[in-house]
Amino acid sequence: MATTTLTPHQRAVRSSVALKVLMAITGLIMVGFLLMHMYGNLKVFLGADAFNHYAHWLKGEILYPLVPEGWFIWIFRAFMLAAIVGHVYAAAVLTKRSLDARSSKYVHGHNHQETYAARTMRWGGVILLTGLIFHLLQFTAHVVRTGFSAGDEPFDMVHASFSQWWLVLAYAVWVLVVCLHVRHGVWSALTTLGANTSPKARGFLNGLAWVIAVTLFVGFMIMPVAVLLGWV
Ligand code: HEM
Repeated sequence: MATTTLTPHQRAVRSSVALKVLMAITGLIMVGFLLMHMYGNLKVFLGADAFNHYAHWLKGEILYPLVPEGWFIWIFRAFMLAAIVGHVYAAAVLTKRSLDARSSKYVHGHNHQETYAARTMRWGGVILLTGLIFHLLQFTAHVVRTGFSAGDEPFDMVHASFSQWWLVLAYAVWVLVVCLHVRHGVWSALTTLGANTSPKARGFLNGLAWVIAVTLFVGFMIMPVAVLLGWV
């Protein structure tokens, strides 16, 4: 059997493609989570009991008896954590390669500029992650208590928090950053996975990325705004 020896450059290209595929798949998994989370949050409009019941079900009976009660949430958290770690790892390695290429003597005089999208995706990702850490400290760990007490029910937690305009504003900025990241990310991921094959396909991907981003922004922000305005 003939063996082919790859040059270091060919190896680097192959590994960069693999990292982009990793980013694409983990990114799409997280977009799937966001759509489900957004949909779940809308249960607030069915009343306090429905919202609290849904939140407890997610941490208890879901998938029981397929898995023991209370296990699903931990399997899900481990899965999401692996997706985040894979996504950030791939982003960090690709960023390093891109910055190294910029200062490399091989591209000297070739003006290797990073694209605007690459820079905004990177900084957007950092802001997104910082906001997520705050979000988890607030609603999952109950360490940052924005107007609620540690043992409060999910509905009371959300209600107390979003009765404050500054928190609604802070969430609007964070969710906007998330949605802009998702807009470019969906487009980029589907392109990496080979869906960007013609001008028509390009138009479709662009439209799809915008629809998902706008749906997420409106779907996520309806609830805090409704609480602020006293509708729930
Ligand atoms: C206005 C927007 C959002 C609201 C009102 C909201 C609300 C909540 C609430 C109330 C919980 C706690 C549920 C519970 O423990 O009973 C939660 C958990 C969570 N949220 Fe959000 N969320 C929003 C946006 C986001 C976004 C944009 C992300 C991701 C970038 C996100 C990621 C998470 C994660 C990972 C959890 C933890 C799930 C777990 O317990 O394992 N959320 N959210």
